[in-house]
Amino acid sequence: RSLGLIVLLMLGLVLAAEPGQAGGHTLNILDRDASAFNREVRGLLVWVMGFAALVFVVVTGALVYVTVKFRRTGKETGEPEQMHGNDRLEVAWTVIPTVIVLIIFGLTAQSMFKLDRPTPGAMVVEVRGWQFWWDFHYKDYGVRNSNELILPVGKPVRFEITGGDGTNYDVIHSFRITSMVGARDAIPGVVTHIEVTPEKIGTYYGQCVELCGASHANMRFRVKVVPQEEFDRWIEGARAFQAATPTDPTLVRGQELYKQQCAACHAIKGVSQGAPNNPDLTFFGNRTTVGAGMWPNVPEYLEPWIKNSPGMKPGVKMPAFPNLSDEDVKAIAAYLMSHKVEGLDFSKLEKF
Ligand code: CUA
Repeated sequence: RSLGLIVLLMLGLVLAAEPGQAGGHTLNILDRDASAFNREVRGLLVWVMGFAALVFVVVTGALVYVTVKFRRTGKETGEPEQMHGNDRLEVAWTVIPTVIVLIIFGLTAQSMFKLDRPTPGAMVVEVRGWQFWWDFHYKDYGVRNSNELILPVGKPVRFEITGGDGTNYDVIHSFRITSMVGARDAIPGVVTHIEVTPEKIGTYYGQCVELCGASHANMRFRVKVVPQEEFDRWIEGARAFQAATPTDPTLVRGQELYKQQCAACHAIKGVSQGAPNNPDLTFFGNRTTVGAGMWPNVPEYLEPWIKNSPGMKPGVKMPAFPNLSDEDVKAIAAYLMSHKVEGLDFSKLEKF
């Protein structure tokens, strides 16, 4: 029966490794079209699984053979023949696994060095993990965006990954773009690196993969891999961004409330400095999600989020604002959505 269970389990693993869809995002960590990184890891996995299968077949085969050959027949007379020790067998079962482990070690080390080699001219993005969201800083362009990463297809990106900022307390997180690259720990006070060249246009799902508190599972982000031309429009627009002075009465009201309630913590370029340990809202209107990759960025989710985020996501630092009226919340939401790089719509790549 246990053999049957093992077979079922292995079958399950094989099926799980097939391209899967979760809410429209591919979660296949071995998607060979997404990056050379995945192909390298996939190649490694084939070797490891090959050895594992070999060991499985030999051990299980021997077990089945012994069970059948030495089964009780009812014709036994007294104790069967006893034996002790077998030098050749013992040497074999020590040497063979050692050789297998050494081969796997060699292959792994080779892949690690290959994947760690920096590409000259790679775009640098500084990644900062915070409880429970992500900050992205395009160092080469001086552009900051939170919880959403826009990347050009076919260009190498080097992530410089860290956590907290030395002043504000934070814990260890881990950065992973599920079906493209990862993972690397985001450790306060330490900078780790990982590099990838995204090869396929689309939306990728990012996730913290180091248990970091109540909302570890809710610490997500989105990656939009777009054509170079679209990336250029985004980054140029982001660099040139200037917050407009609102004239629409709702936006005027929104701005007023934003300055009272949000500006001390959140940054919008040209409006408020905020604090580095809270998400930047400069390009909020371009975002496809709220709550760090949790919900679609539509009023249905954004408005309750503004009013009572701790009720939606355990452990968030943003307090609830029970005193804001529905009109107030709508005004703030509209004001936030008015900040964006015009002419770009990343939601066409989004599926929930
Ligand atoms: Cu951050 Cu788990």
